Amino acid sequence: MCGIVGAISKNKNILPILITGLKNLEYRGYDSAGIAYLKNKKIKITKVAGKVTNLSSKLNKEDTSTVGIAHTRWATHGSANSINAHPHKVNHITIVHNGIIENFKELKEMLISLNYKFKSTTDTEVAAALLDFYYDKFKDINKTITEFMKNVKGSYAISMLIDNDLESIYVLKKESPLIIGTANNMNIIASDIRAILKYTNKYFILDDFEYAKISTDDITIYNKDQNIINKKLNIYQDKDDNTSKGNYKHYMLKEIMDQKDTILNTALPFIEKGIISILNMPDLTKYSKIDIVGCGTAYHAGLVAKYLFRELTNTKCDVYLASEYRYENNFLNKDVLTIFISQSGETADTIAALKLVKEKACPTLGIINVKNSTMTYLVDTCLYTKAGSEIAVASTKAYTAQVTLLALLVLSHGYRNKTISKSKTLQIIDEFNNINKLITPLLKQKERYIKIANSIYKEENIFYIGRGLDYAFSMEGALKLKEISYIHSEAYAAGELKHGTISLIKKNTPVLCSATNDKLNSKTISNLKEVIARGAKVYLITNNNYEDESFSIINIPKTSDFIKTILVIIPYQLIAYYTADLRGTDIDKPKNLAKSVTVE
Ligand code: AGP
Repeated sequence: MCGIVGAISKNKNILPILITGLKNLEYRGYDSAGIAYLKNKKIKITKVAGKVTNLSSKLNKEDTSTVGIAHTRWATHGSANSINAHPHKVNHITIVHNGIIENFKELKEMLISLNYKFKSTTDTEVAAALLDFYYDKFKDINKTITEFMKNVKGSYAISMLIDNDLESIYVLKKESPLIIGTANNMNIIASDIRAILKYTNKYFILDDFEYAKISTDDITIYNKDQNIINKKLNIYQDKDDNTSKGNYKHYMLKEIMDQKDTILNTALPFIEKGIISILNMPDLTKYSKIDIVGCGTAYHAGLVAKYLFRELTNTKCDVYLASEYRYENNFLNKDVLTIFISQSGETADTIAALKLVKEKACPTLGIINVKNSTMTYLVDTCLYTKAGSEIAVASTKAYTAQVTLLALLVLSHGYRNKTISKSKTLQIIDEFNNINKLITPLLKQKERYIKIANSIYKEENIFYIGRGLDYAFSMEGALKLKEISYIHSEAYAAGELKHGTISLIKKNTPVLCSATNDKLNSKTISNLKEVIARGAKVYLITNNNYEDESFSIINIPKTSDFIKTILVIIPYQLIAYYTADLRGTDIDKPKNLAKSVTVE
């Protein structure tokens, strides 16, 4: 996934606008960055490896321009260096691109046979050359773009400058997101709204196989038959929530602490008036099964919901990784509801899986954080998590907001199908109303978490184990640690460790565990004794005041399973944060990652 921005104005210097836009899109990737702009009637290109700050410091401070396109990259084809950085210019054509050209190899061979030479190993340079080839052949931009769309497989959001038509920016789109904003005396394009909100909240959303010609005072949008089409002008309502990190050292720490507000904000519409509110949740009783699909942390939230649906409401429920789901036989039918979980609403694998279910006209529900993201337009019903903008690549407040919504969805379903009594439902609603009293003490145990972080941060292998719901928590706990500290941390079903992986346990190997299910705890404690017998250091999160000198224990309050799903992850999030902080990694933008994975 990458971020693209472009701007054209009669008299504004758009260079700082492009750089600011890129900075707001760095969550989409930050391996390298580049910009192309009109200077003395020619296109000038600057590109760097690394973050946008490297690009802005390399730019000639004296330069100004009224037309330009820019890009921040997450490498898909070719390493993260300045040669592979976008923009790519081939003869008349300069482009930036977000997506993957799947048939780039055969296109590249065809173009090489036509004497095209390539400097980079990217699929994007091939796309630029193909556009140049068609432009040379047809001398007509509409034909060029539509011919490109006919012959290219894969996904793209492309912004393009043409040497002999520098009064316009052209954009074309298939699967990767692209919007066109209208500001005063300027038009601006971007991968998503975040890059343009500072200048306008009015924008068009391009759909697949649409393209546009954008000049200073006109936006003309075409369909794949080269017909001009009218598109709805969207007005982004959400006030752009506070995305500064305040006095916190990292966005991630701020977002972990924000959970004392975001969880309740997410829950309120479904608890503030008791049973009446919980019935604001969609009625699931007509479905024979609930399938859940997501990636990464969103998938882990789905795992939690699976246990709750099955154990507390006796409902068939399975969870799938979107990247696997989309290639499996999913026995879809109209009485199976598929829930799609996504913070960004732009994850390519999740969108592809969602489109598959829609093609079969089967029911879909989204649990999504970013308003107006692609998935919000695709699902039949959308439940918004109210986590606010999540800037850190490692998801924390979005995860607990997802789990909150899912837990309340399960609660409403249990109330409706009578597997959860009215009194129990009211008791859990009350617990949610008091979530801050439960979560705040956990957020405040900084010394405790730093002590644990100090004892594990030099390790290279760490294990997280648990049974049932605790196994789901372990999956998220392990991901949090590995993605920001770069320590290899692996989650394992506690009962499974002895079937091979225990061979990796040696003296001082840290094993983190949550044991919060009275029915399963004695088994889990036995598993902990097994690893201690082999030299492991054990850190246990539990809710039953268990005591044992051989463990380092973090006690959390005893609550219902619904609330437990939120409490257990707090220590795991903060242990991961302080461990990464001791290792000095780039916590908010870890290497190789991006916040929204809009490629497959
Ligand atoms: C979360 O910490 C990760 N950065 C990543 O696994 C993320 O959860 C995954 O890419 C799914 O993203 P989405 O929720 O925006 O679809």
